[in-house]
Amino acid sequence: FSSYQQVLADNPRWVLAAGASAGLRGFFRSVAREYPDTVARVVEHTPGTTAEDIAADLVAELTAPDREPVVLRAPGTRRGLRMTEEGLGLLGSTGAGPAGDGAAEAAALGLDSDSVVLLVGGARGITARFAATLAGASRCRIELFGRTPLAEGAEDPALAAANTAGELRTALIAGGLRVPAEIERAIGRIQAEREVRGTLSKLTGLGSQVRYRAVDALDSEAVRGAIKEIHAEYGRLDGVVYAAGVIEDKLIAEKTPESYDRVFRTKVDGARELLEAIGELADGPRFAVLFGSIAATLGNRGQSDYAAANDALETLGTDWAADGEGRRGLTVHWGPWAPTGEGNHGMVTPELMRHYASRGIQLIDPDEGTMSLLRELAWGPEGDTAVVYTASGW
Ligand SMILES: NC(=O)c1ccc[n+]([C@@H]2O[C@H](COP(=O)([O-])OP(=O)(O)OC[C@H]3O[C@@H](n4cnc5c(N)ncnc54)[C@H](OP(=O)(O)O)[C@@H]3O)[C@@H](O)[C@H]2O)c1
Repeated sequence: FSSYQQVLADNPRWVLAAGASAGLRGFFRSVAREYPDTVARVVEHTPGTTAEDIAADLVAELTAPDREPVVLRAPGTRRGLRMTEEGLGLLGSTGAGPAGDGAAEAAALGLDSDSVVLLVGGARGITARFAATLAGASRCRIELFGRTPLAEGAEDPALAAANTAGELRTALIAGGLRVPAEIERAIGRIQAEREVRGTLSKLTGLGSQVRYRAVDALDSEAVRGAIKEIHAEYGRLDGVVYAAGVIEDKLIAEKTPESYDRVFRTKVDGARELLEAIGELADGPRFAVLFGSIAATLGNRGQSDYAAANDALETLGTDWAADGEGRRGLTVHWGPWAPTGEGNHGMVTPELMRHYASRGIQLIDPDEGTMSLLRELAWGPEGDTAVVYTASGW
């Protein structure tokens, strides 16, 4: 990141990168959006292309009249990449059972009440909604990882009656907290904990056996240990979902390498760790879903790190699927979702929401989003390793 940042600081006419590397497409798509006067382009060649041919192609790219951020070159051909809309066929649009309950999809996926699904980052936000869809459709056993620790026992009665952030602020100040940053941190902690507890009780209410562990996805020992425990206890792990992510949006020129790393690593190192850990299981999962973002496929100003990370997930999922028989490794690049609950707007901040509204971009309805993913897993072609779901196209 630092090297690109330095190069881009001079507003060059071209920045070309030769070769495929996980995340580079998403990064360059964002560079192209942040530097409209620079031609920013990744040029990928088919394996076996000679160094001379690559060099000649790169020279030719300097005079190409378009602004494609990703170009695929093979002898005699030059292609950009476009998203195309595709249906799931008849079953995908109607389901095989009573419309909307997801039972037919869960059955097609082989999920029932004995199955075990692990969702990393699944106790909060949109992934908790997907966990609820899985629970409602199959009553499968659900394991959740997240960083938020859950305190023992009931909440302090002085805070329990405070529902909104404003009420919590008042209660915390009445309890003696004075430093604004501490108050805001405490509000965040309490709301996160409530959200996790809410998810647990919702999933239990839907008939699933559920367990939450405070496991940081970047703590490889903790991740591996917990996965081994789950597998040893149930003798199986049917599917995993990796959805942990953080955003720290800033333009490339203003971003620190540390911030870039935090955003990139939370997705990429965490997902890699999970896929490696399940790869070591004797009888591992049949599906791994990685939650990506449309920012990876379109690029986004201020999200070079996030776009690169979500793009890199595709490579990880595809490699994992190729490593074993009958595996689906699917990256689902989501468009923006409507908020899923009080106190957590997830990746779509109120400011972003206003921005989307002003551009006429619709938000994914949470019930429709989660059911779309279940349908995709049930009826989607096994070879599709990355899909984009949005409420209003692109
Ligand atoms: N909402 C959208 O519109 C949207 C659009 C495109 C893509 N996505 C993707 O969907 C996923 C969920 O997003 P969201 O909007 O629901 O955001 P969110 O509410 O902030 O959810 C993020 C989740 O990741 C967990 N997490 C973060 N860092 C972690 C770590 N190091 N280890 C373990 N868990 C970690 C969080 O739990 P703790 O805080 O407890 O750790 C939380 O459960 C993300 O991967 C995001 O990129 C969302």
